[in-house]
Amino acid sequence: MKRESAGGVRGWRPATEEALYGPSGFYRRPEGPAGHFRTSVHASPLFAGAVARLLCLVDEALAHPAELAFVDMGAGRGELVTGVLKALPAEVASRARGYAVERAARPAGLDHRIEWLPAPPADVTGLLFANEWLDNVPLDVAEVDAEGTARLVLVREDGTEVLGEPVAGAEAEWLARWWPLAGTPGSPLPLPEAPDGPPTPEDLPEEVRPPAAGLQGPAQGLHGPYDPHAGEGLRAEIGLPRDAAWAAAVASLGRGLAVAVDYAHFAGARPPFGTLTGFKDGRETAPVPDGSCDITAHVALDACALPGARLLSQREALGALGVSGERPSLALASTDPTAYVRALAGAGEAAELTARGGLGDFGWLLQPVGIPDPLPGGERPST
Ligand SMILES: C[S@@+](CC[C@H](N)C(=O)[O-])C[C@H]1O[C@@H](n2cnc3c(N)ncnc32)[C@H](O)[C@@H]1O
Repeated sequence: MKRESAGGVRGWRPATEEALYGPSGFYRRPEGPAGHFRTSVHASPLFAGAVARLLCLVDEALAHPAELAFVDMGAGRGELVTGVLKALPAEVASRARGYAVERAARPAGLDHRIEWLPAPPADVTGLLFANEWLDNVPLDVAEVDAEGTARLVLVREDGTEVLGEPVAGAEAEWLARWWPLAGTPGSPLPLPEAPDGPPTPEDLPEEVRPPAAGLQGPAQGLHGPYDPHAGEGLRAEIGLPRDAAWAAAVASLGRGLAVAVDYAHFAGARPPFGTLTGFKDGRETAPVPDGSCDITAHVALDACALPGARLLSQREALGALGVSGERPSLALASTDPTAYVRALAGAGEAAELTARGGLGDFGWLLQPVGIPDPLPGGERPST
């Protein structure tokens, strides 16, 4: 299938690959991800503390191995692995070995005991944790044309788009299985009923509404607003490379637990216009693949899941790991004002990590490898 042309138009996957990880790519910049956006890792040390508790549960399930690995997958500047190693009880810390897996260069001043690697270490025993990694694994985008055909979206370096070849092969199979586009031949999805008058984004349920007007590109489709009669303009992000990246990361573990945490959506509630967007200097921006901004799309985490996996929200997962946004009792304020102020600050940070409409809605994909699922609570898979 033709994806690149002499005119500098190519699929979103190769365009994003170069824009993020090429020689002048966004993730090669010295300021690192924290210079542009806040993840749970930056929001509060409570997050690293909770992941350290999860590592202790994995340690127990592994019967306390002589060497316990913590693999920070897509490590940014190594902030999570640094925080996790610091938060471990001394006995566990004495057996723990920290790995940061990152495409960017090792930052100066990182604890020399942390190994900095371009790919996960093979056959280790412990916890592999990928916070906001998969949303940065580049993928292609499909859009339904006026005839109801799903076509690859091609993009220029300035972010303008054109439709390319029809989606075919394994990518078409992935769409049919995980993100069927209404209006395309063979789609099991009925076209939505036409409301009175022309449809607007407000006609859609809140959770699938495109971002506010003013953002270029991702929510609108190339041919204007959503047309419920033709399906024209509906978009999907083809998660195949993420499924493969996750499977490879899981396969690197000899025994233990692999966890992916990300903005997620699930079958039956995919966002009709996709989620591809940009971030720069702390603000959402148009996704322009020129190296100036992050380019990210939410993750179809259910498609990534391998047999034996469990999916839960960050709110549920952190709750099971003892992070709660409960305020301290007022009685503490009179008996120990310093402890009260500290507890109040902690409750505020916990509330941010577990907030509805925010970080608390992130998905956690838990993938045990050769051990029982060590996290208490939540739904277990039936298979
Ligand atoms: C959004 S940042 C998240 C950083 C950190 N995990 C956090 O939560 O703050 C995603 C990171 O994943 C890295 N990354 C993307 N693909 C990777 C790969 N295949 N191997 C290693 N790192 C990768 C990027 O360079 C970037 O630093």
